[in-house]
Amino acid sequence: MAVQEGSPRPRAGKLTIPAVRERKGGERLAMVATYDTPFARLAEAAGIDLILVGDSLGMVVLGYESTVPVTMDEILHHCRAVVRGAPGTLVVADLPFLSYQLDDRQAIENAGRLLKEGRADAVKLEGGRGMASRIRAVVGAGIPVMGHIGLTPQSAGMLGGFKVQGRDVESAHALIDDALWVAEAGVFAIVVEAVPDEVAAIITERVPVPTIGIGAGPFCDGQVLVGHDLLGFESGPSPRFVRRYADLGATIRDAFAQFASDVQTGVFPGPDESFHLKPEVARQLAAEPR
Ligand code: KIV
Repeated sequence: MAVQEGSPRPRAGKLTIPAVRERKGGERLAMVATYDTPFARLAEAAGIDLILVGDSLGMVVLGYESTVPVTMDEILHHCRAVVRGAPGTLVVADLPFLSYQLDDRQAIENAGRLLKEGRADAVKLEGGRGMASRIRAVVGAGIPVMGHIGLTPQSAGMLGGFKVQGRDVESAHALIDDALWVAEAGVFAIVVEAVPDEVAAIITERVPVPTIGIGAGPFCDGQVLVGHDLLGFESGPSPRFVRRYADLGATIRDAFAQFASDVQTGVFPGPDESFHLKPEVARQLAAEPR
C-alpha cells in the first residue's frame, strides 16, 4: 500500500524495547510528549513510534514555571490517560524531580509504580555519569530505562538555565562521556537535548542504542518534540528547534471567540442544536395556565 507524505502510517503493533534498540542506525524513531487520552489517540492513529508522558506536563498543561514541582501522582494520572488513548503504542513515563535522586530503592519503587499503576512500558530519567549506577539498579529490577542527557530541565538551575550544552571541547567531552556511561548502564535509548549537531553526531556514532534528539540536530536516530509545541499551541515564538506543523492555538482561540460571540448574540444554539417536544405535547403544555 502506498503511504502518502503526511498520512498515517500503518502500524505493525506496539514497538517492543528490543525493536526500539534495533532501530539504531535504521528507520528514525518519532516520539512525541503528550499527556491525555485524545492527544495520545491521535498520536497513535498517526503512527507515532513512542509516546513520552514527559514532566514537561508541568509547564505545558499544569501551568507550572518549571518541571520541578511535578509529582509522581500527576505523572501517574496523566500516564494512565495516555495509555487508555494509545494502548498500541510504547509509552515512556518521566520520573519526576526527586522521585529517583535519593537512592536506588526510591528509584526502583517509583519506576515500578509508573509501570504497575501508570501502565507505562518504560521510564525516563535525567542525568549522565552520576546517574549510571541508579540506571543500572532500575534496569536490574527489570524496568526499561530511557536516558536523558544534555540539557536536563530538572536541573536547569545547575546548568545556568535552559541553555545549549556541550558548546566547548571540555563540555562536549563530558557529554560524550555521559552518553557512554548511561548506555553502558543499560538504557534502551537516550534523549539528547539542546546539544550542537556535531556533538550529537559523535554521541550517536559512539553509543550502541538509539539517540533521540530534541534541539540536537539531524544526526540522531530519532526525534522528540512536545506535542503542544509542534501543534502550535503557544502564541509566542517557539524555541528554534521546534517546527510547527499546525497552528492549533489560533484555531482554538478563534473557535472559542466564535462560540462566545454566537452565545452573546443568540445565534447558538439554533434549531439544529435544540431538542423539541412532539407537537401535541408542546400544544398541551402551551395551553396550561401559567
Ligand atoms: O518532559 C519532556 O517532555 C521531555 C522531552 C522534552 C524530551 O523530557
